[in-house]
Amino acid sequence: KRKIILDCDPGHDDAIAILLAAGNPNIELVGITTVAGNAEVDKTTKNALKVCEIAGTDVPVYKGCAHPLIRRRETAPSIHGDSGMDGPVLPEPERTSTDVHAVDFIIQKLMESDRDVSLVPVAPLTNIAMAMRKEPAILSKIQEIVLMGGGTFGNWTPAAEFNIFVDAEAAKVVFESGVPITMMGLDLTHQALATAEVCRRIAQIDNHAGMFVSELLEFFRQTYHDVFGFEHPPVHDVCGVAYCIDPSVVKTKKVRVDIETKGEFTYGMTAVDLLGTTCREPNVNFAVELDHTKFWNLVIQALKNLSK
Ligand code: BDR
Ligand code: CA
Repeated sequence: KRKIILDCDPGHDDAIAILLAAGNPNIELVGITTVAGNAEVDKTTKNALKVCEIAGTDVPVYKGCAHPLIRRRETAPSIHGDSGMDGPVLPEPERTSTDVHAVDFIIQKLMESDRDVSLVPVAPLTNIAMAMRKEPAILSKIQEIVLMGGGTFGNWTPAAEFNIFVDAEAAKVVFESGVPITMMGLDLTHQALATAEVCRRIAQIDNHAGMFVSELLEFFRQTYHDVFGFEHPPVHDVCGVAYCIDPSVVKTKKVRVDIETKGEFTYGMTAVDLLGTTCREPNVNFAVELDHTKFWNLVIQALKNLSK
């Protein structure tokens, strides 16, 4: 079993990532940490708790940072609605988040580990950067960081992807940390499309999780259509968890990636050195190609495993 901490801001695709982690037998979800991103942190935390209820899991949820390190907070209601997870109507969660800050949980869990815990951040990197700054000894304890963010093009500005743009200073700390990073950027995640056929298969799953994901995808499809003109929505964050389960789901390339924090038009850009022009040592395992069939088979099987 692969141990992961999922750091997220649910978020439609974050929610599906949680369900995949909860429903796949090869993942041990040791904790869920939340952060401000798609919505304010109180909202993303509540959403994470609601998703856990649907998954039937009592994995602890730790609330994290409410603001980026330096910048003003920016959220994404145009894509995820005001709640951060608009669409499905769910009751208030029965439990609350654990009384330990996400950053302290990450530090504590890593320090007591045997370098067998991976971090899977699928949101702005504020919590991860804070943990690295508060306790640098965690750096040698992290097995791998498998993150969703960046790419060779943007979706929040022409140059920047949302997760990196929201807290590029935090991303800079993480990308310069020396910890092994596998990066699911937009180049990869835009291949993880919930096509009509995929949606049909999910609609046939006879449990709460299947119904919930169908409703999530319906809302997500609409906003991706209205904002970007996409026919099918990409479930970005799910790629990180899928990679942890089965690395053969994606093909990767070792490259140097640097984070732009000063550009007038390029703030939050990930400068991906695909052709090796910098001659610098690669710091990132950059995902380039997704096995769409394998990927959705994993997701659909995990949803079926959630028997509620
Ligand atoms: C990323 O931004 C968020 O809106 C999604 O949840 C995903 O993590 C995609 O750019
Ligand atoms: Ca996310």
